[in-house]
Amino acid sequence: NQIMDLSIQEESIAYKKVQLTDLSKDFIGQKICTFGWVITCRTTKAGMFIDLYCGFKTIKCLYPREFEHKSISKWTSLTIYGEVKENYKHSKDSSEFEVHIDRMEIFGGKQSPPFPINNETLPFVKLEKGHLNLRTEERIFFLKARSCLMRHFRDFYYKNNYIEITPPTIVKTQVEGGSTLFNLKYYGSDAYLTQSSQLYLETVVPVTQKAYCIMPSYRAEKSNTTRHLSEYTHVEAELADLNFSDLLDSIEKLVSYVISKFYEEMRKDILILNPNFEFLKVVEKPFKRIRYTDAIEFLRNMKYLKEDGTEFVCGDDIPDAGERFLVEKYGEGLPVFLTHFPVSFKPFYMRKEDEDNTFTESCDLLFPGIGEILGGSMRCEKHSELIEGFKREKIDTENYFWYTDLLLYGPFRHGGYGLGFERLLMGLMRWESVNKACLYPRFLTRCAP
Ligand code: 4AD
Repeated sequence: NQIMDLSIQEESIAYKKVQLTDLSKDFIGQKICTFGWVITCRTTKAGMFIDLYCGFKTIKCLYPREFEHKSISKWTSLTIYGEVKENYKHSKDSSEFEVHIDRMEIFGGKQSPPFPINNETLPFVKLEKGHLNLRTEERIFFLKARSCLMRHFRDFYYKNNYIEITPPTIVKTQVEGGSTLFNLKYYGSDAYLTQSSQLYLETVVPVTQKAYCIMPSYRAEKSNTTRHLSEYTHVEAELADLNFSDLLDSIEKLVSYVISKFYEEMRKDILILNPNFEFLKVVEKPFKRIRYTDAIEFLRNMKYLKEDGTEFVCGDDIPDAGERFLVEKYGEGLPVFLTHFPVSFKPFYMRKEDEDNTFTESCDLLFPGIGEILGGSMRCEKHSELIEGFKREKIDTENYFWYTDLLLYGPFRHGGYGLGFERLLMGLMRWESVNKACLYPRFLTRCAP
């Protein structure tokens, strides 16, 4: 910006250019120049009181003289020149210093139009104007919270010697069934947006033993629900040389680690936003585990009925409300592993149980208030069993040549999982929709901003 550059040159001796985020009471007595966005502006006889914001920080400013405008609208960009002074007001919300402005300029020359988001704004409008809604207290918190949770996932994996990979997301293979595939034309041939990076992770573990990725996955979900997205952040990991029980242990270790670290770090911010926030019980290991068949029995015994009013029977899919019921009643409000689903429910790649090969070594992790947040399993170890799985699902193996090679060149026992990052964040924050856990959610009726 030309005006600002000139001003700094003119005033370089008198005013020190400081980033707003670096300002502190250490600058008291100094002449500074800084930049920020106007959050509030109040004009009284004493002058104009401005709260100026940048990078999660707000500073108080006073402009004692006449300004060409009576007031300055919210989110107008402002460059100010002034002196940092001690703040003598001892009210709770006042900081230790304030800036007494000598001179200020509207960056870009124009005030912002009236800000279109307020307390009465409808949820639909907030989504449509997500890029501006981002500047509200709730969404500023969201940005911090999401980044915090992400960092603790990476910390966990780093501390436990996992290698991070970033596999392609344009693929020729399905992982979780054809009905939710997004198709695309790839230079004239058919391709998909990935549903899961699992198969690629599996190719890496013969080299690394443990690997993970945090990548987008895509599901063409044809209905709007509070927990389904068309694009979501998938935290996936794969481990070699372990059994099913080890796999469940490693998931527990991860999930209890990230939850406790997340709440520890975000506790203060959460309480500022909602002083009555009920934190989920910190999760103790081990989580309760229940086989699918026992869960069906449990639902029947508890007289929990299906939507159509009939009793659950083996072979029924347990819907999300049933999953939440299991967490409440069986898990006593804590996460529950639902394990050993029938082969008929599950994709081609899952290892069958040794004792009864009509069931798989698989798990879903059910989370308070949400239901499933994670799906995992042991993987097929025998080439012939894998080929049988493809046949069962009527999948042509042509595009899976690299995946089937894994069981020719040194087959190995391995397993892994995928966790829906937004579902976990939604659960931890008790948000009513998974949309709130996304920067810009993608679902059936939304692809913007
Ligand atoms: O259970 P899913 O489909 O499992 C897999 O994709 C495995 N291949 C993962 C693996 O073993 N590496 O999905 C895993 C998790 C679900 O438990 C859920 O939390 C999340 O991904 N998920 C979704 N989250 C938001 N919107 C959707 N449409 C989701 N579909 C799955």
